[in-house]
Amino acid sequence: MAGFFPVLKTDDFVLRELTDDDLEAISSIWGSLKVTEKMSSGPLSHEDSVQMLYVLRSLWDNDAGIRWGVEHGGCLIGTCGFHNINKGARRGELGYELDYAAWGRGFMRKALRPVLDYGFNIMRFERIEAFLNVDNDRSAAVLKKLGFLREGTLREYALTPKGLIDQNCFSLLKRDWKNQ
Ligand SMILES: CC(C)(COP(=O)(O)OP(=O)(O)OC[C@H]1O[C@@H](n2cnc3c(N)ncnc32)[C@H](O)[C@@H]1OP(=O)(O)O)[C@@H](O)C(=O)NCCC(=O)NCCS
Repeated sequence: MAGFFPVLKTDDFVLRELTDDDLEAISSIWGSLKVTEKMSSGPLSHEDSVQMLYVLRSLWDNDAGIRWGVEHGGCLIGTCGFHNINKGARRGELGYELDYAAWGRGFMRKALRPVLDYGFNIMRFERIEAFLNVDNDRSAAVLKKLGFLREGTLREYALTPKGLIDQNCFSLLKRDWKNQ
């Protein structure tokens, strides 16, 4: 995978490689109580955001996944991509988040369409999965609109600042995506 980073474009979004210049935007997004409320990390400090940006960028460099920066109107409004890849089983885990100011407009649902195409067609996944805190209804709604099915609840699956929490597992299969 590693090599020339693939830029994906839609009418509204440019999905491109994250750079050091994105630190301020990333720190604002991941430092937000609202954005991280239903994620397992909790809000990140500026120092943790530096580390997070490094980790997200390293996915591509280490051939371990890919994280795009989602740009809208010239501004970084979020990120999305694949991690926890199992090449042998042809599956990968989807992750994403959006700046709170950009919520409520269907942005992530739209930005994820070329990402899912890329996952199935270029990364050759047969299955894409996502794990959500059980109370993350907004995110579940996004996944369901894209055709993901909820498979079940994984008990005490993630350790958060509030303790162990249950997560729901969602999946989308390539054959279901092709038939949409
Ligand atoms: C997940 C996320 C990207 C969704 O973006 P968004 O802009 O909030 O989503 P949208 O507004 O486009 O769509 C959310 C859907 O949930 C619905 N919704 C909104 N509030 C809701 C609530 N409290 N309960 C249930 N559904 C709700 C909306 O009506 C909408 O459905 P619709 O498209 O049928 O109208 C964004 O909320 C986010 O960044 N969350 C934090 C990060 C995160 O949870 N990432 C997932 C971990 S993998």
